[in-house]
Amino acid sequence: MVHPVQIGPLQVPSNLWLAPMAGISDLPFRRIARRLGAGLVCTELVSARGIRFSGGVRSSLRYLTLAADEHPVAIQLFGFDPDDFVFALEKIMEEPLLRSFDALDINMGCPVPKVVRTGAGSHLMETPELAAAIVQRCRRFLEPYRKPVTVKIRRGFAADSNQAADFAKRMAAAGAQAVTVHARTREQYYSGKADWSVIREVRQALPDQLPVIGNGDIVDAASARRCLEQTGCDGLMIGRAASGDPWIFARLQAELTGKPWREPELWARGSVICEHFDGLTALLGDQLTAAREMRHVLMHYFRGLPDARQLRQAAGQLTSRGDLLQVLRQAGLLGASGQAGAGQGCISPANRQ
Ligand SMILES: Cc1cc2nc3c(=O)[nH]c(=O)nc-3n(C[C@H](O)[C@H](O)[C@H](O)COP(=O)(O)O)c2cc1C
Repeated sequence: MVHPVQIGPLQVPSNLWLAPMAGISDLPFRRIARRLGAGLVCTELVSARGIRFSGGVRSSLRYLTLAADEHPVAIQLFGFDPDDFVFALEKIMEEPLLRSFDALDINMGCPVPKVVRTGAGSHLMETPELAAAIVQRCRRFLEPYRKPVTVKIRRGFAADSNQAADFAKRMAAAGAQAVTVHARTREQYYSGKADWSVIREVRQALPDQLPVIGNGDIVDAASARRCLEQTGCDGLMIGRAASGDPWIFARLQAELTGKPWREPELWARGSVICEHFDGLTALLGDQLTAAREMRHVLMHYFRGLPDARQLRQAAGQLTSRGDLLQVLRQAGLLGASGQAGAGQGCISPANRQ
C-alpha cells in the first residue's frame, strides 16, 4: 500500500503526500512533514500573475524559498494566462534559492472567489482549452530541466458537476504527468463528504503509468486504506488532518504496513513546535513576525489537548519565542525546567518531566 511513485523523470519515495495549504504548508512545516515521512511536499499556491506584474519573485520569496532537506518538493502556481506561467517559471529558474524545485503543480482547484473570478483555480475546469494551454506551455518550458508538471483538480465546478475524468484526460494529453483529484466540487469548498468514486473514474480514464493521487477526507489509516482500495489510486494527498499533526505520515506508513506505532511523547511534540517557530523566524527575519504567523499554526497543534480554550487565548497573544515556551509549558508540551536549545529550536529528552 505504501510505495514509491514515479512522476515522469522524478521518483517520489512514498505515496503519502502533504497537500498544499495556504497558511499551513510553509517551509518549516514542509521540512518537518518530509522528515516524518511525507513522500512529497508542496508549497502554498503562488500567483503567476503576481510574479509577472511585480516583475519578479521578490514578493513571493517567502512562499517559494526551498530548503535542501525537503526534497522532493513541488511548487504550486495558480493563474489564468499561459504567458504568466512561463514568465514566472523563467524568474524562478533565475533564483538559486528557488530553482531546485522538483515538480510544478498547477492549481486547478482553488475555490476562493477572488481567484475564481479571474478564471484561475477551479475555474480552469470550466475552460479546459485554456487549462490545457497552460499545462502545455509549462511542460515545454520545464522539459529541458527534467522537472515534471502535475495538476490538482476537483470533481468539478458546479454543485452537481462531475467533469474530473474527461478533464483529467485532456490535461494528460496536454502533458500533465500526474493528477491529484480533490473529490469535491468547487461549490463544496471544503465541506460535505468527498466523493471518492470520482478518483476511481479518473484512475480508470488515464494510462497506468500516469499517477493519480486521491485527496479529500483522508484522516487515518482506515480512511487511507479504504480510499486506496476503493479507487485504485496510486497515492494519497493529506490536507487538514496533517495540519498540527505532521506525525500522521509516520503513523500511516506504520499502520498501513503492519508495523508497530507509538505516538510521539509530549516533549517531542513541543520540540517540533519549537522547530516550526524557529524555522519561521529564520524565514521571515524576526521573532515578532514569526510569532504572529505561529498564532494560528498553534491552534492546529493544540487540537485535542485539554484546556484548549485557554491555550488558544494564550497562543493568540504570542509575540516571542519566550512566549511560545510559556504556552508550551502551559500545554504540558514542555517540562517545567525545559529550555529550548538556543538556535537549535529543540527540546531534548533530558528536559522531559
Ligand atoms: C487552509 C487551507 C488552505 C489550502 N490551500 C491550498 C493551496 O494553496 N493549494 C491547493 O491546491 N489546495 C489548497 N487547499 C486544499 C487542500 O490542498 C486539499 O485539497 C483539501 O483540504 C482537501 O483535502 P483534506 O480533506 O485532506 O483536507 C487548502 C485547504 C485548506 C483547508
